[in-house]
Amino acid sequence: MNIGIDKISFYTSHYYVDLKTLAEARSVETDKYYIGIGQEKMGIPAPDEDVVTLGASAAYPLMKDGELDDVELLLFATESGIDQSKAAGIYVHGLLEMPSRCRSVELKQACYSGTAAIQLAIGFVARNPTKKALVICSDVARYELGSPGEATQGCGSVAILISANPRIMAIDPESGYHTEDVMDFWRPNYRSEALVDGKYSTMVYIHALLESWKQYAELSGRSLADFNRFCYHIPFTKMAEKAHQKLCRKNKIAIDQEQMQALLEESLRYSRITGNCYSGSMYVGLTSLLDTAEEDLTDQRIGLYSYGSGCVGEFFSGVIQPGYRDHLYADQHRNMLENRSELTYQQYEDIFNYGVPTDGGEYVFPQYKTGPYRFSGISQHKREYESLVD
Ligand code: HMG
Repeated sequence: MNIGIDKISFYTSHYYVDLKTLAEARSVETDKYYIGIGQEKMGIPAPDEDVVTLGASAAYPLMKDGELDDVELLLFATESGIDQSKAAGIYVHGLLEMPSRCRSVELKQACYSGTAAIQLAIGFVARNPTKKALVICSDVARYELGSPGEATQGCGSVAILISANPRIMAIDPESGYHTEDVMDFWRPNYRSEALVDGKYSTMVYIHALLESWKQYAELSGRSLADFNRFCYHIPFTKMAEKAHQKLCRKNKIAIDQEQMQALLEESLRYSRITGNCYSGSMYVGLTSLLDTAEEDLTDQRIGLYSYGSGCVGEFFSGVIQPGYRDHLYADQHRNMLENRSELTYQQYEDIFNYGVPTDGGEYVFPQYKTGPYRFSGISQHKREYESLVD
């Protein structure tokens, strides 16, 4: 029995900052961002947007299409949690009016938790083949103003339905994974911005890739030539290219820029204009590949590398299913990305510095442009959400 991705839907904030605006404010050359790290825009969540609204908005098209009726497991992957106790997915479960017979839990391991959720969901479906699991990867990537990581900020969510006989991608059983206790990127509970040892983090990302690949290759007997495309965790698009170059070099394969583009470029298009989405980043890449590749990818094997600082890396793979294009939300994604609003530098800083009130009072938040749901206020420390659709 094949198990894998049955549906995949992506959502990001309505607002973004063009990195040429940030470059000007930080007195660096725009090309450092556009070319050096390979990023053009960063998605910025409005004050009435958070991981719950991003996640619910990503899953909304699935709900509208009646795809959530058989879901009995909701796994919410995030490192931008809004509560130390209650799982963010339970708010989403309510907003999407999902059946009460459904397990719901939040998972954390930096950017890796989305992949952990997918693998757990596959186990659930193996045991309950008529049921489905909904994985939501939702994050807001924040670094300190003026820090090296600032230009890699972003936000977004990916909702992924896992089922038997999936319509989009069957996930192969082989997986290579690697855990190592390192301090490359972390965010203590008392901080709202991540701390990062930037250069070190890129080295650990690659080390975990090489270790994960080694196991995967041994278990599966496959070589790099067995893949038609690769999707990497994308903190910034240049990272994915550098990682693939290293993987090729380690396997004694020469790869030129044109070959690299053919294997990776389609998967980098969305991330280049949304920024890091942490737990969802690799799945934003997969959505970008599925939506924008001109070539029919049917029966092609895709290599997937997920990385979460701290750290865990995992290399796994999947095969694209016949008819997959009929089940994508490509038009919706294109529409959303084409109709966003650009922020000025001052608007960006104002939103960045906007903090959720913590005094237990009653607050109604101003309405910005969001998706179908918004974070409308806070009352006695309880977050309130509003549905903007019937
Ligand atoms: P930096 O140190 O300011 O940048 O920030 P730099 O000086 O190394 O420059 C970057 C590149 O731009 C260099 O190219 C420059 O040469 C080039 P490279 O040497 O790397 O090939 N450059 C230019 N190119 C063209 N025209 C120019 C120009 N000027 C310079 N004018 C750094 C880079 C990665 C440190 C920073 O972005 C950062 O700290 N990012 C956050 C951490 C990160 O993303 N790490 C990635 C791996 S860890 C990970 O992926 C996990 C994560 O997602 C978190 C999680 O798991 O939850 C982050």
